Amino acid sequence: MVPDDYLDGMTAEDHGRRWARLLAQGDNLALTFVVEEAGRVVGFAMGGAEREGDPRFQGELYAIYLLQEAQRRGHGRALVEAVADALVRRGVTSMLVWVLRDNLAARAFYERMGGVFLREHDLDFGAGFRVREVSYGWDDVRGGLAQRC
Ligand SMILES: CC(C)(COP(=O)(O)OP(=O)(O)OC[C@H]1O[C@@H](n2cnc3c(N)ncnc32)[C@H](O)[C@@H]1OP(=O)(O)O)[C@@H](O)C(=O)NCCC(=O)NCCS
Repeated sequence: MVPDDYLDGMTAEDHGRRWARLLAQGDNLALTFVVEEAGRVVGFAMGGAEREGDPRFQGELYAIYLLQEAQRRGHGRALVEAVADALVRRGVTSMLVWVLRDNLAARAFYERMGGVFLREHDLDFGAGFRVREVSYGWDDVRGGLAQRC
């Protein structure tokens, strides 16, 4: 879904520096969550204000990633709910997320979490390529996302 060249160029050092800068901005810290297993971070999620001026959704889930071996154990749900709760505590009650159109696993997850399909767009990844993304939205995240059946 993302060109190999780009992925091969990613380094832990670069991203470590980027995260350190991001988390030093105090407001981001309150909207970033990690999940640990046996004292090791196995996933994270980050959210904040919606970034494109959407008239309907004020909050956004910017990113959520779990190591493959930590997936499908409820951590994703807990992380999204933690971000949504943090937004609500700041008075933001709606949220959207953008995901690669071809990331069918993540799309199934957002649908399971009660996200409603919104629209598609092209995103300039800023590294010489474009990706097709789709968005999902939650109009009201007060009281949690989709309830378990
Ligand atoms: C997508 C991701 C965050 C989901 O987190 P997770 O911990 O695996 O999901 P959970 O175990 O919390 O699942 C929550 C619900 O979604 C469902 N679900 C999760 N992944 C699913 C999938 N691939 N297909 C169908 N349903 C899925 C679960 O069955 C569960 O339903 P339940 O509560 O009724 O049992 C995680 O798999 C991940 O990090 N993937 C790689 C990175 C990525 O694609 N991030 C999204 C970028 S926008």
